[in-house]
Amino acid sequence: MIGNFVYSNPTTLYFGKDACANLADALKAFGSKVLLTYGAGSIKRNGIYEDVINALTVAGKEVIELSGVMPNPTVDKMNEGARIARENDVDLILAVGGGSTIDYAKAISVAAWYDGNAWDHFFVEQKDPQPGERIIPVGAVLTMVGTGSEMNGGSVITNPVQKLKIGKVFGTDVMPRFAILNPEYTFTVPRKQMVAGIFDIMSHILEQYLSGDDDNTSDYLAEGLMRSLITSSRVAVKEPENYEARSNIMWTATWALNTLIGEGKSQDWMVHMIGQAIGAYTDATHGMTLSGVSIAYYRHIMAAGQQKFARLARNVWGIPSAGKTEEELASAAIEALADWIKEIGAASEISSLGVTEEMLDGIADATFIMTGGYKTLNHAEIVNILRESL
Ligand code: NZQ
Ligand code: ZN
Repeated sequence: MIGNFVYSNPTTLYFGKDACANLADALKAFGSKVLLTYGAGSIKRNGIYEDVINALTVAGKEVIELSGVMPNPTVDKMNEGARIARENDVDLILAVGGGSTIDYAKAISVAAWYDGNAWDHFFVEQKDPQPGERIIPVGAVLTMVGTGSEMNGGSVITNPVQKLKIGKVFGTDVMPRFAILNPEYTFTVPRKQMVAGIFDIMSHILEQYLSGDDDNTSDYLAEGLMRSLITSSRVAVKEPENYEARSNIMWTATWALNTLIGEGKSQDWMVHMIGQAIGAYTDATHGMTLSGVSIAYYRHIMAAGQQKFARLARNVWGIPSAGKTEEELASAAIEALADWIKEIGAASEISSLGVTEEMLDGIADATFIMTGGYKTLNHAEIVNILRESL
């Protein structure tokens, strides 16, 4: 293991079919006013809303509802939530939904009591809340699997006017204090969203795995998670209500992005940076933006990280090394990923997400360039990767 790190994760997870039975108890640690945030209303159709309201009632909470959190939550919606949280002086924000709703809760937890432009401060300038600044605690009931937001400090907000989609990784104070993970709650997620979530998980793991050349435990953990994800995804796309598969995917997603497998190593994250810029331009589904650019990106950087791609082929995709050069093996890993994208039904082309040739330069401009991967890209390379992904 290289580097020095501090690993601390304060989120208490309640996992399984009966997870929500713990919600009333979990709520007891917080004051009486709860801001309940959720999306467009799927939770009212599938019964999750009722389970949550029952727990809030048992716990004796006063509930203020804030609905309409959209996929890829916007800065305007964040400002609205911050105002409502502050005006009502809430003690807890309870997010019931997927990554968008949980990310949104984290954003308003820091924005509510911040006297200034929260978008500029926390997202554009990437500032952290200072000691003494008030942060409203967040709790989560997860209904859609993929982002890992239930157990991390990430919050991604989109500014459609500035055409920027920016993620900020907050510290432990902003991470959910608890999260309810019932795999059955995910059964009603539309197939497209389920598949996007599955690819999002894969991308989180790959972007921490495909970097560095030291031997470290994190990479072995990553390989195990990917193997589990590939196995379960193949079951879930055929049988979306297969509890074993959906519960494995849920647990894998949490561990894919709660910082564990990234500790002590460099990380890539360029697929996410390009994907987020596509999201800022098109409002496309997050996981699909990632699958859409991954193959062109990985082909582009493969030579610089050949050994690791070859290891991916052997240890994750189970491709036999016999008779193959290291380069052929590395290439086979990327082709296996491309085949899997098609097999599960994730997007292979960003034109299907609304990206046009005219947007490519702007998307490349909106892409933050990271330096932790095998190759640092320049603007022209990003445009080429985008063009190859059309
Ligand atoms: O609005 P509702 O009605 O809730 O419908 C949602 C939404 O339309 C629906 N859905 C969720 N649970 C459902 C359900 N429909 C039926 N039954 C259920 N049980 O699914 C749709 C998508 O939900 P969303 O929360 O947008 O999906 P996801 O979890 O993929 O979150 C995407 C957001 O998270 C950010 C992305 O950029 C994007 O903004 N990310 C957050 C990260 C983090 N916090 O660390 C990291 C990720 O890389 C990602 O960037
Ligand atoms: Zn992601």
